[in-house]
Amino acid sequence: MINVALPKGRLGSSAYKLFEKLGCGPIEENTRKLKFIEESAGLSFFWVKPSDVAIYVERGAADVGVCGKDILLESGADVFELLDLGIGRCRMCVAGYEGRTYDMERPLRVATKFPNIARSYYSGKSRDIDIIKLNGSIELAPVMGLSDVIVDIVESGATLRENGLAPLEEVCRITARLVANKVSYKFKNVEIKRLTEALI
Ligand code: PRP
Repeated sequence: MINVALPKGRLGSSAYKLFEKLGCGPIEENTRKLKFIEESAGLSFFWVKPSDVAIYVERGAADVGVCGKDILLESGADVFELLDLGIGRCRMCVAGYEGRTYDMERPLRVATKFPNIARSYYSGKSRDIDIIKLNGSIELAPVMGLSDVIVDIVESGATLRENGLAPLEEVCRITARLVANKVSYKFKNVEIKRLTEALI
């Protein structure tokens, strides 16, 4: 059996379709039943928060997982990236009020769920920043005057638009990856390679 960590929510629904094409499922998120076994395919699925996939795989509780590149960059998880799945396509951006200038004499206040990504982006720009770590609804931060800008995921751009904000700079492009635990990759190599090739 290969243990597969699947992300709940928006990215999850695209990921389930990829596995359903392999004959699994139908895979449906269920708030109570957290595991789903597909005996014939030798796969055992379980659902976690998207931001927890990398840690499950890194620690070997899952052999493989579907994980956004944003989470991989932010966590620095020590896993093998096997395949770009081409789903969950979005951009990591600096966003804020278009045309607004900020005093270079003081650190730029940056609200984000991704402090490591933000720090690394601005270190390349030699700009002093003050990171404000939030857990959601990041767009509210500049609207309420908590921050000057945000570093966040932009998919359709609707959340920014509806709050009068705009993408200002692109940090990187994001897609979901199939990742593997390094030990599992060695000891379940045939099965993991078979799964990877089936998902191409
Ligand atoms: C993400 C992200 C943005 C939004 C972008 O939030 O943090 O807020 O999606 O999507 P859009 O460009 O299509 O509008 P998420 O839905 O994960 O919720 P959160 O606010 O709890 O982080």
